[in-house]
Amino acid sequence: MRRPISSLIVTNMAETGSISGTIVVLVSGCGTNLQALIDATADPAYGVRIAAVGADRDNIEGLARARRAGIPTFVCRVADFATREDWDARLASQVAAYQPQLVVLAGFMKLTGEAFLSQFGGRTVNTHPALSPSFPGIHGPQAALDYGVKVTGCTLFVVDRGVDTGPIVAQRAVDVYDDDTAELLHERIKTVERQMLVDYVGRMVRNGFSVSERKVTIS
Ligand code: GRF
Repeated sequence: MRRPISSLIVTNMAETGSISGTIVVLVSGCGTNLQALIDATADPAYGVRIAAVGADRDNIEGLARARRAGIPTFVCRVADFATREDWDARLASQVAAYQPQLVVLAGFMKLTGEAFLSQFGGRTVNTHPALSPSFPGIHGPQAALDYGVKVTGCTLFVVDRGVDTGPIVAQRAVDVYDDDTAELLHERIKTVERQMLVDYVGRMVRNGFSVSERKVTIS
């Protein structure tokens, strides 16, 4: 039976069958967040090894970045499966092959499903370019501009079944300028987002963490 995500304590490697210090990163686009993680792993003190990078599409810069760094890659495309559930199950098994302690969605533009969350729920994080719970979904910077907020930012959260709704690990604020466009604002958010991601993924992997209801505590 599946345990509720909120009770899972990630530091228990034996229970999750994972390899300490190992992460898998999933991407869909240019992968600057991935690159920040790759760069950070060059320092052994960071304590994180990227075992593989997966994507839901081919021919993206995110995969090229991984290959240039000598990291194994895999592609799992929804279109190659009869059902979304089949795709989700295959994605889960491809990630599981690397026994990650933590799965990092870094600009991964698909929602994971039941099969994936039954294996990796509670130890999958995602980064979102808005201050949750405001502006979920794929147009966070544009939605913030349209609403007229003066401050937005980015959120690192533990993935649950919703769209950008999971328990919050960290947030960073970014000022909105009067002459901003969604592109300019998103680029400024991403500068902060990359630092946040590197900082907190490192801490979560090195120290372990727990999730209780909506509270994420890094040990
Ligand atoms: C990030 O802003 C992420 O929050 C969003 O998509 C962007 C990915 O950027 N979901 P990159 O591919 O890491 O450069």
